[in-house]
Amino acid sequence: MTAVIAIDGPSASGKGTVAARVAAALDMDYLDSGALYRLTALAAQQQSVAWDDEAAVAAIAAQLPVEFVAGQILLQGEDVSVRIRQEEIGMGASQVAKWPAVRAALLQRQRDFARNKGLVADGRDMGSVVFPDAKLKVFLTATAEERARRRALQLHIDLDSEAYAAIVADIKQRDLNDTQRAVAPLKQLPDAHLLDTTELSIENAVKKVLDWYRQS
Ligand code: CDP
Ligand code: CDP
Repeated sequence: MTAVIAIDGPSASGKGTVAARVAAALDMDYLDSGALYRLTALAAQQQSVAWDDEAAVAAIAAQLPVEFVAGQILLQGEDVSVRIRQEEIGMGASQVAKWPAVRAALLQRQRDFARNKGLVADGRDMGSVVFPDAKLKVFLTATAEERARRRALQLHIDLDSEAYAAIVADIKQRDLNDTQRAVAPLKQLPDAHLLDTTELSIENAVKKVLDWYRQS
């Protein structure tokens, strides 16, 4: 297997942004594992399969007709890059992600991303389950308030609106789902470097990861 950098952390901590930039700087591939859970939730919704039907959702995850082409994410040929970022689908992702059969169905697909050049992978269990032998493991975090603020800015939502209050509630609910579930819960591993970005710019977060990688 090629060299892997595993970046795990809670929702909106900056994993995707930092991981993609680190991958570009090191000429490595990038895996957004959360997208696979989001795609599974979306595909289930499109097929009217309930997110709590473990066996049916796992069957969908095993067969996901997905392609990652030039920045686009295609599900059965349709560009769903924007659709899967909706918070409703994020919540669905966190519901389907609690099922062991769903996680098992997506495991090999994630590992296959590490077949070519090096890989930067972000998610919740990159360092613990999918790539336990990763060369570098990072636990990227920020306070829930800062993460909600970033998500709101991303979605062009006013910080004094009801929609913002819903984002804060949502982020806290997803933190709870992701850290308390029985399989592959989000946690900081003893061998992971902690990177709290609450007061750190994207540039400095990227620089820190690159420094750690070069020292590893
Ligand atoms: O992948 P994840 O959900 O962890 O977060 P993201 O989508 O990469 O980042 C959420 C938002 O926070 C993006 O708009 C980033 O530009 C922003 N961000 C930031 O303002 N400062 C950081 N240090 C990291 C991310
Ligand atoms: O962008 P954000 O950090 O909000 O979420 P994401 O990384 O796209 O992941 C969406 C959901 O999928 C998370 O809330 C997790 O429940 C689940 N997930 C997971 O269980 N394991 C992963 N490796 C990645 C995501």
